[in-house]
Amino acid sequence: MKILLIGAGGREHALAWQLAQSDRCRELYCAPGNAGIEECAECIDIQADDSEALVAFAIEKAIDLVVVGPEGPLVAGLTDRLHEKNIAVFGPTAAAAQLEGSKGFMKDLCTKYNIPTAAYSRFTVLEDAKEFITAHGVPLVIKADGLAAGKGVIIAATIEDAEQAAEDMLSGTAFGQAGQSIVIEEFMDGEELSVFALADGKTVIPFSSAQDHKRVGEGDTGPNTGGMGAYSPAHMMTEALEQKIYNQIMQPTIDGMAKEGCPFTGVLFAGIILVDGEPKLLEFNVRFGDPECQTLMMRLDYDLLDILTAGAKGLLTDVIDEIYWREDTALCVVMAAQGYPDSYEKNTLITGIDAADVMPETKVFHAGTKRNKSKDILNTGGRVLGITSRGETISTAQINAYKAVEKINWPKGFFRRDIGWHALKKDQRNIATKSISC
Ligand code: GLY
Repeated sequence: MKILLIGAGGREHALAWQLAQSDRCRELYCAPGNAGIEECAECIDIQADDSEALVAFAIEKAIDLVVVGPEGPLVAGLTDRLHEKNIAVFGPTAAAAQLEGSKGFMKDLCTKYNIPTAAYSRFTVLEDAKEFITAHGVPLVIKADGLAAGKGVIIAATIEDAEQAAEDMLSGTAFGQAGQSIVIEEFMDGEELSVFALADGKTVIPFSSAQDHKRVGEGDTGPNTGGMGAYSPAHMMTEALEQKIYNQIMQPTIDGMAKEGCPFTGVLFAGIILVDGEPKLLEFNVRFGDPECQTLMMRLDYDLLDILTAGAKGLLTDVIDEIYWREDTALCVVMAAQGYPDSYEKNTLITGIDAADVMPETKVFHAGTKRNKSKDILNTGGRVLGITSRGETISTAQINAYKAVEKINWPKGFFRRDIGWHALKKDQRNIATKSISC
């Protein structure tokens, strides 16, 4: 098969790495890709938002399957443009991508199909929003309706903060067009996990779980980022919880989307919070998480191309009986440029990646990297490398990943030293309980 993968991040490197291992993968292209993806795909100089050039390229190369990594092109309708030319795509249409592209759409769907989520109201007029905030009281969560690069969610602890967030969003100051409609919802307190499923328009199958570390600082402190690390599976996930999430959230969503006339094909990534042990939906994304995807791909023990092809053709449950996973835990440590998530220097030199890449059970996935004329690796973005390792336990996965991180020499980079700490704390509690009961 000839495959075109869209995107340039660590998620796309992990997908390319798995796709390239398929016996059926004859040609793999990535637009635009990065310096790491070059090892397994031909990178082409077309940006992910240039749908006209991507469609033209897919026609010229007679591409059999397009896999779309990031949400932007999906919400903008790349899948629809490709379908118009009869090109198979794993990724939702613009109508289905509203699950991530419009927080209000997602919440309304939950109400209509009885999917457990926080109580909410939608606003476009500031005075109405302020009246609601005063009547409801705080804490409240204020969300920009549209895509805001992961920054459009404010947890407000005071009435003043809530009103300010609503004003910044509705006036367009904060997130432009994306904030001109907002959702205000009740604050839910609990532990969060990322749950993944694959859908083919009609059916949905589980695709494991992960937990990411969104804050920049150790102990989950400081500003939010795209993710400073992750591990999979999520330590809170049990068979019973997974079943509940499927019955109460994933399946009703796929059924509801089909009933609404926008069947969902692609990755359904649910941000779940456990409130008193019960799963509630925080948000949907319509693509793999980054860096969660890196940990999933390290654990996957099945031909990814077979899965995605079946999904794109509406044959997921006809073709796939059960997806196999390695028993191990995988853990990813993100290395980022100093200053991230604010401003940071670009084109700084990184060495030692090859030495890290050959460490046992380890793969270094690139995100914001390029090669200069001398073939040195330079950073082009904020999140730059995802050092991902497997281990029999979360603890060994963590040890393996940090041993590999030590091989990398990047004076202008930084990383968190505590990825996996929630799960490790639980492991230690279990060990302590066992030694007491002995
Ligand atoms: N790591 C969170 C996300 O991909 O949205």
